[in-house]
Amino acid sequence: LGLAACGGGSGDGAASPDATENGGGEASGGKTMRLSLNQTEEHPSTIALESFNERLAEATEDRWSIDVYPNETLGAQQEALQMVSNGSVDMAIVSGTQLENLNEDFLVFNMPLAFDSVDHQMSVIQDPEIVGDLFTSLEDSQSITVLGGFTQGTRSVYNTEGPIETPADLAGKKLRVQESDLHLAMAKALGAEGTPMAYGEVYTGLQSGVLDAAENNEVSYYTVKHFEVAPYFSRTNHLVGLDYLIINTDVLASMSEEDRATFDEEWKATMDEHVQMWNEKTDEAVAQAEAGGAQFNDVDTEAFAEALAGLQDQFLTTDSQKALWEAARGGA
Ligand code: GCU
Repeated sequence: LGLAACGGGSGDGAASPDATENGGGEASGGKTMRLSLNQTEEHPSTIALESFNERLAEATEDRWSIDVYPNETLGAQQEALQMVSNGSVDMAIVSGTQLENLNEDFLVFNMPLAFDSVDHQMSVIQDPEIVGDLFTSLEDSQSITVLGGFTQGTRSVYNTEGPIETPADLAGKKLRVQESDLHLAMAKALGAEGTPMAYGEVYTGLQSGVLDAAENNEVSYYTVKHFEVAPYFSRTNHLVGLDYLIINTDVLASMSEEDRATFDEEWKATMDEHVQMWNEKTDEAVAQAEAGGAQFNDVDTEAFAEALAGLQDQFLTTDSQKALWEAARGGA
């Protein structure tokens, strides 16, 4: 609290000789929040967060800034979740699958068919009527506040052996999924054998043969180089995934009202910037993966849709899950 309070006001320029000219960097008395993510420097989420930091630092005169740690350097997402909860890290980007393990209502947005498109997804997660309670639901138990998110785009299956066209082609294949019961069941529905694993271990898993397949969007497929070891990318488009920005609740509460308003405004601009980048980065990733030897193919979309249809009855079981599903689908 004390840290955040002393950066502002008229005495700022006296703190150091070059403070008046220097727009960025660490200001004495300012709070630099550490943010953990598992993507590379060139991933659109890292790029958008770096520009979030620049705008936030400028708009708050360095009272608040963000140090972005990419590449899982602070830990994989499961660890990041713990660290944000205990306050050793201030913020993180985590996949919805991680939050599903803390509150099963988050599972609704990790379902295949929850979202028709990135725009649909963004309109749902930026509607406080739909997500207001969900996003504050972890504050009391975990000291985690959810602030919104970035799309993961459409996820598809890729593998080491050859193009797949139907669920039958995945029979016997070990398919890496995120750490989620829903996605484990999804792997089975897709015809494969699910293996939950952290993102950063997947490359080696595919390379060593522990895994035959994984599923992700084109941007991740390219940026973490999975295309090198699993060159057959089959467009199953089985779900539109979602990452969340989470922050330690006490850190958020320590912002002045004015700085919080600035933070919210710049974060909204960051989400918009991410959406704007997404399609272009996806096209670039496809071209670059192809240049590196990857092959993309279409699949029997209906066969996959049919295979996944049963997950709704199996996983949307509580009233609050059903209500969230209706609210999300109602706007589709
Ligand atoms: C995407 C997503 C990450 C997630 C990863 C995964 O890259 O953006 O948040 O961790 O998929 O499959 O684990």
